Amino acid sequence: MAKKIVTDLELKGKTVLVRADFNVPMKDGEITDDNRIVQALPTIKYIIEQGGKIVLFSHLGKVKEESDKAGLTLKPVADALSEKLGKEITFVPETRGKKLEQAVKDLNDGDVLLVENTRYEDVDGKKESKNDPELGKYWASLGDVFVNDAFGTAHREHASNVGIASNLETVAGFLMEKEIKYIGGVVENPDKPVVAILGGAKVSDKIGVITNLLNIADKVLIGGGMSYTFFKAQGKEIGLSLLEKDKVDFAKELLDRAGDQIVLPVDCKIAKEFSNDAEITEVSVDDIPADQEAMDIGPKTVELFKEQLQGAHTVVWNGPMGVFELSNFAKGTIGVCEAIAELKDANTIIGGGDSAAAAISLGYGDDFSHISTGGGASLEYLEGKELPGVVAIANK
Ligand code: 3PG
Repeated sequence: MAKKIVTDLELKGKTVLVRADFNVPMKDGEITDDNRIVQALPTIKYIIEQGGKIVLFSHLGKVKEESDKAGLTLKPVADALSEKLGKEITFVPETRGKKLEQAVKDLNDGDVLLVENTRYEDVDGKKESKNDPELGKYWASLGDVFVNDAFGTAHREHASNVGIASNLETVAGFLMEKEIKYIGGVVENPDKPVVAILGGAKVSDKIGVITNLLNIADKVLIGGGMSYTFFKAQGKEIGLSLLEKDKVDFAKELLDRAGDQIVLPVDCKIAKEFSNDAEITEVSVDDIPADQEAMDIGPKTVELFKEQLQGAHTVVWNGPMGVFELSNFAKGTIGVCEAIAELKDANTIIGGGDSAAAAISLGYGDDFSHISTGGGASLEYLEGKELPGVVAIANK
């Protein structure tokens, strides 16, 4: 169902509430990856140009008690946003009250205000995370319309997304629109043939995604730590490689059902220790010794996966192919990333999380049709679930 978007509204002089997902990784008060802020800029800039008065909301981390607040203030985000927009913005270090209300009243057309971390409201009764109706109503009372651009939070039913939406006319921002088009497009109406590449450590994290994508994709290529549970299901020796014993039966059942729709690695890189300095050997997946651990796919698998990608019209990738944080075990993930980035005639989509971070840090940020800003949200979307944040946006 097509959703209303920010361009469907008259914004001049209106107070426009905007939910962004500024839940960015931080270390010692510094933002270590600003992608989510960058991706929120088109919507913010558009509203500024249209003469709207912007009141931004976002959560950051999980605020369980009073003492969590200081380390989870959105002030660093306000500073980063102000720098990127090249204009001063008002940061209100509160989530409700007279000071916030006055600051909203004081906004002129084109001004931007950022409200403090919405999860400060969780300290007293989890009001944000439990979608307290009074809180959603209160925040909605601060504005005239609501633009939800927080795809990363769309799998949550919280006061700052669904709560506000139930009290105000709600449209999607440009980022939300793009996420719905690409991630939603994979599950709802993909251009075939579709190839899915799934990786990551655990089968248990991806059960819903594998199951749903097997109904959609022509091929599902499985790499990363979770592939060893599949090899175990085939009766192979996997040495010290990652294994989820309680998922072996599930893997076996999938392999029996899917046949050659599932493509597994043919070789891997093994070592005796989980260390970047460990001695590495490349072996066939049939020759993993009992005392070694597989930590990346090998070059033959990269070639195999490349072949499988040829002719695909839609490619969706989620999850690294190995322990890519250790540079000596990153080649499989880099190889797959390059292979997808080279496909010029396909819709190429990264479903968020580690693979998105890997592609961006490797310099391939502009070479995909879409890199999702969602982690849990894109996974749930790819599982075929409805996302409450998306459902709450008005249909066209
Ligand atoms: C995310 O990073 O996945 C979103 O911002 C949601 O955060 P949460 O898992 O803390 O709700």
